[in-house]
Amino acid sequence: MLIRLRRLRKLPIVREMVAETRLSKDMFIYPYFVVPGKNVIHGIDAMPGINHFSADTLVKDVEKGLKLGINKILLFGVGEEKSEDASSSYSEKSVVANAVRQLKAAFGDDIYIVTDVCTCAYTTHGHCGILHDNYVQNDKTVEVLAKMALSHAQAGADMVAPSDMMDGRILGIRNKLDQNGFVNTSIMSYSIKFASAYYGPFREAADSAPGKGDRKAYQMDFRNPNETMREAFLDEEEGADILMVKPALAYLDIIHRLKENTNLPVACYNVSGEYSMVKAAGQKGWIDEQKVIMENMYAFSRAGANIIITYHAKEILEKGWM
Ligand code: PBG
Ligand code: ZN
Repeated sequence: MLIRLRRLRKLPIVREMVAETRLSKDMFIYPYFVVPGKNVIHGIDAMPGINHFSADTLVKDVEKGLKLGINKILLFGVGEEKSEDASSSYSEKSVVANAVRQLKAAFGDDIYIVTDVCTCAYTTHGHCGILHDNYVQNDKTVEVLAKMALSHAQAGADMVAPSDMMDGRILGIRNKLDQNGFVNTSIMSYSIKFASAYYGPFREAADSAPGKGDRKAYQMDFRNPNETMREAFLDEEEGADILMVKPALAYLDIIHRLKENTNLPVACYNVSGEYSMVKAAGQKGWIDEQKVIMENMYAFSRAGANIIITYHAKEILEKGWM
């Protein structure tokens, strides 16, 4: 007797029945770039379909997204005044705090708001922290991040997501939030964030490229899988609620390993460069864009991601691809 695996592949109906990986719109978090001003909707060249929004146009776009089931968003602030000490990052009037307040006033708990917590879009030098003697100062930066997280929580953010890679920032942020009564504000840690060239288009979008040098003295070396687990376990001990791997596509092994080694929910960030590559090849007609996008989404889920942060989310739901 020959074992025939093709029996269960014969018809769509049976393929659907035995599918081992399923996707749900509830897994998606959709990123947004918020800028100062009014009535702004401004495209980002390297990220077709993604825009800069001012708070007012953001509210309208989120309203459309909510109808599709995009009810979890990740906010990045862009275009704020830059300084050495990143003081605009934790102002109660920051573009992010302002957007959070307006979104919460419009939609309340129908929208779940995550805010990115990092200084790189708010510093003159573009590094993810406070620079002294050509070095990003760890503990000083954690203080700023904690203030920034608190200002977002005060505006009404449901979850803060530190993306800086300083040591001890989860503990610093957790303590700050708790001391100020925000015990229910969650933390999604960019736990395993690699120093990656895949962030290129984002740095244009967020105007956050480092003026000098790179981020290798704080972001992770992509050659070090064991060290990724040390990062993740420390964040877990310090009180993170969700652990993230970023980028996603080139790091499916890390997503899988993390999923096998933690009981926390695992998120992955399908970053700007991954998005732009698919979009560019799709526009050229070199790949079937829809099929490639969905294959990637299933890959994230199969690898072990419970949560997928992706710029594709809106299009997938808009066009009914799942
Ligand atoms: C800022 C930040 C970056 C991304 C998210 N937060 C860029 C970086 O670290 O240089 C990348 C997101 C993307 O590429 O889509 N710390
Ligand atoms: Zn940063």
